[in-house]
Amino acid sequence: MAELIVALDTPDITQGLTLAQQLQGVVPWVKIGLELFTLGGPETVKACKKMGFKVFLDLKLYDIPNTVRGAVQAAARMGADMLTLHTQGGERMCCAAREALDEHAENTPLLFGVTVLTSMHNGELPGYTGNINEFTVQLAHAAAAWGLDGVVCSGHEVTTIKMSCGPNLLCLTPGIRPAGTEGNDQHRIMTPAQAMLSGTDFLVVGRPITQAQDPVLAAQNILAEMDTLQN
Ligand code: C5P
Repeated sequence: MAELIVALDTPDITQGLTLAQQLQGVVPWVKIGLELFTLGGPETVKACKKMGFKVFLDLKLYDIPNTVRGAVQAAARMGADMLTLHTQGGERMCCAAREALDEHAENTPLLFGVTVLTSMHNGELPGYTGNINEFTVQLAHAAAAWGLDGVVCSGHEVTTIKMSCGPNLLCLTPGIRPAGTEGNDQHRIMTPAQAMLSGTDFLVVGRPITQAQDPVLAAQNILAEMDTLQN
């Protein structure tokens, strides 16, 4: 069963938490990313947990292994249910994060490795001239070998990742755009239905919901589109 995560990317704390309140009982997950976390810090995580949401803390960590280890432990203590780091941070960094979570018995968030951002297209990744869909799959293999629970990738790579890394490696897919909505800065995009057909486990949606005239209705419409394709 794929699940919908709404990205609370808002320019102020009240707006983000008001949106979360409106979405209570509609979606199971919210995402707190760099924008809201920089504004409101751990209090935003606590507030969303108190509202009953599972919280995806999307800080896309990328630093030396010791710093990532500490940040991951802090995020687990904060109550996050899912975390991200950059797979491109390499084996020692990713394994340090895995170990940090395994040592943290009270709360073990799902650990996801960002592969190649869904805003990127071929030729845009510094120092890499190959095909980024293929690079994404290579990074997913590394993530699986390093013990991560899943990867963040576009819907275009999910089927290959599931086939080559096995169904246990979870896939989380941003760059979701309902038919007729703006792509914005995203490039490797899919509709909710296409993402469902790819076999992804989580769909992350920001602006098509946060900037809709009626965010709750926009979320409900995406859920309805997903429901027709749930297995
Ligand atoms: O507004 P939009 O639907 O494009 O938001 C997508 C969300 O997913 C943003 O919060 C962004 O930070 C996040 N994300 C992404 N691409 C990744 C990882 C996370 O777009 N590879």
